[in-house]
Amino acid sequence: MVDDVPESLLEVRDDVARFLMSYKFAIETVMARVNVLNEEFRYVHDYNPIEHVSSRLKTPSSILKKTRRRGCELSLQSIRKNILDIAGIRITCSFISDVHSIRDMLVGHEDMVIREVKDYVDVPKANGYRSLHLIVEAPVHMSDRSTQVPVEIQIRTIAMDFWASLEHKIYYKYAQDVPQNLLDELKEAAETANRLDVTMERLHDEVRELGERVSEQSLPGPAELRTLNLAEELLRALATRRE
Ligand code: GTP
Ligand code: MG
Repeated sequence: MVDDVPESLLEVRDDVARFLMSYKFAIETVMARVNVLNEEFRYVHDYNPIEHVSSRLKTPSSILKKTRRRGCELSLQSIRKNILDIAGIRITCSFISDVHSIRDMLVGHEDMVIREVKDYVDVPKANGYRSLHLIVEAPVHMSDRSTQVPVEIQIRTIAMDFWASLEHKIYYKYAQDVPQNLLDELKEAAETANRLDVTMERLHDEVRELGERVSEQSLPGPAELRTLNLAEELLRALATRRE
């Protein structure tokens, strides 16, 4: 019953609720940016580098577990400072080069500051893991305060994601004590996945080059014509208004 609960405890409860909510809002802020990129690419460019996006909020019990494991002080301030993956977003893209271009497009605005970068794409982990990890500070504006909230963004290709998901499952199945032969095979599988990524990127570049050459030679198709007509109409309307 709320009547029996001391005032100070109610305040703590509200602080914790606001604290957790700030991470949920930070995810929404970053997701909004990702969605803009996604739609913009779909409409304006002839190719969309984003295949899939997911997000997750760490549960209070795993936040506490990580705080204890790290030996951090048990306060909201210390958790904010030390546990940087309470809000997590994973972006899966098509090709290796998309990883860095998505990073540049996402954080190329002054209101989203990069706090930490771990580039396991340029320098993979010893076990073969590849992915780009960013910790960004996302702006969150609440009724009485504005805060910069850390969000972990992982950017990787479909092949990198496939490997990481399986490796994660194996790691947990063996209670983190994976037999050496499996570790060796996983490492080899990571190299195979990377070769696939490299081949797909090369094929994609070849197809794009071919496409560019063909479109230089051909007239616009019906869809392009419609867009051109619309653009022309718009320009004409604007010009008449100005006259
Ligand atoms: P955590 O305490 O796990 O957050 O690690 P960290 O603070 O050293 O950060 P790091 O950027 O290395 O890893 C963050 C997250 O990336 C992990 O929680 C996993 O989701 C993922 N990750 C990192 N290394 C691996 C790996 O070897 N295999 C898989 N499957 N995922 C990994
Ligand atoms: Mg983590």
